[in-house]
Amino acid sequence: MFEHNQTFHSTPARPGAARIGPRRPQLASASRTVCLLLLRTLSHKINNLVLLVKWIFENQHKLQTVRWCSSSLRYKELEESAQTLEHVAAPVAAAAPDVKPRPYRAPETSFKHDDLQVTLAAPYQLQRKPDAPDLGFGKYFTDHMLKIQYQKQLGGWQKPEITPFEPLSIHPAAKALHYAIQLFEGLKAYRGVDDKIRLFRPDLNMRRMNLAAERSGLPMFDGDELIKCIKRLIQIDQEWVPHSETSTLYIRPTLIGTEATFGIMAPESALLFVILSPVSAYYKASDDGAVSIYADPSVVRAFPGGVGNRKVGSNYGPTIDATARAAQMGHHQVLWLFGPNHELTEVGAMNIFMVYINEHGEKQLSTPPLNGLILPGVTRQSILELASEWDDLTVKEEVITMDRVIELNRSGRLLEMFGSGTAVVISPISRMGFIDQEIYIPTMKQTRPVFQRIKDTLLAIQYGHIDHPYSHVVS
Ligand SMILES: Cc1ncc(COP(=O)(O)O)c(C=O)c1O
Repeated sequence: MFEHNQTFHSTPARPGAARIGPRRPQLASASRTVCLLLLRTLSHKINNLVLLVKWIFENQHKLQTVRWCSSSLRYKELEESAQTLEHVAAPVAAAAPDVKPRPYRAPETSFKHDDLQVTLAAPYQLQRKPDAPDLGFGKYFTDHMLKIQYQKQLGGWQKPEITPFEPLSIHPAAKALHYAIQLFEGLKAYRGVDDKIRLFRPDLNMRRMNLAAERSGLPMFDGDELIKCIKRLIQIDQEWVPHSETSTLYIRPTLIGTEATFGIMAPESALLFVILSPVSAYYKASDDGAVSIYADPSVVRAFPGGVGNRKVGSNYGPTIDATARAAQMGHHQVLWLFGPNHELTEVGAMNIFMVYINEHGEKQLSTPPLNGLILPGVTRQSILELASEWDDLTVKEEVITMDRVIELNRSGRLLEMFGSGTAVVISPISRMGFIDQEIYIPTMKQTRPVFQRIKDTLLAIQYGHIDHPYSHVVS
């Protein structure tokens, strides 16, 4: 036993204080042994604890409960999730997608044409205008562009600006670059016989843009305001509208999500821009002036519940390989089929039409109905509206299958097939490849083909030969 006041450490002697006597050796060695034992046990325990912590740390991915318990707050979550897990219902079959058109949601706020600011290009920034035969499609661009920024934090749409044409500076993390949160449009400005410049039903393009914006979480806007801004842009670059009835000025409005974050959600910033390109014919045709198309049932362009009916970039990239394969086989375009019955949906980037003699002996113009897989083309809608006024033609939206095309062709009742779109107006089709069959369609053999009558009517409206409510005069 230690004596009271005895300590392991010698304390400095205070003057006059009694000296503490020498420690007894047996007592000191016993206490050292006890201490060593204690230390060894403690260090063993610490070692084990360290090993345990290390093991837990390395294996926490296997021990959900350990992770959940790492914070006392997580206990509640764990209990709740355990309850939810017990009640998870067995998976049910997905409901059939709703392909009915959804009601159009009007934009809450929009930019205004009245706020438009214009900065004109300096003389040295002006581009040389190519000759009409060299134009191609989308190779040259005019001197100015329209830009409208959207910044949610600044209250939404900012003032529209027309600036000299210039490259965009974009953050590498912008959502448009990763998740294709973007959309685009295509319409044209035509220089009429009276030298007036006209747009063709731009209101329908605006409507389609807003529907695509809604689907992709991009901001919507007032289409009339954008039309006014586009008209101003065209007025500024009006000398770029070709003085020709075989060339036009193609207008490409584009809306991209610019917010630089990786989250897949509606972007808080976006850019709407419009660029202009003088263009000539879009598709090359065969010697007879018609195109040849290839139907490959193993690829689809769109599917129910998808975005085949919206003009979004993600619909177009994945068509390139199929189009290249069709080209290797000597065809100009892909005929996009869908479903076990090989329903015709679209051809290339066009809507598809067929003319045939129906069961009542009448000449009928048919196109597949808008079922969600098909882009609601402005040209398509105009053809249906115009042709339904003609007494000698029955006009119908109906499902068209490959079997039906083959059967009508075999019985001599199939007269014409053609594609329609802003870029081409009308593109007659004279040959189809389908699996191992070659189908020749007598489109170019008709004496007064329907496709030509439709094309002439549309061009007459677009180039101002006839006054029509579809035309919007720019200047
Ligand atoms: C897939 C697709 N279908 C059809 C069309 C034709 O539409 P529009 O007549 O509006 O040019 C286009 C062109 O925009 C298209 O890209």
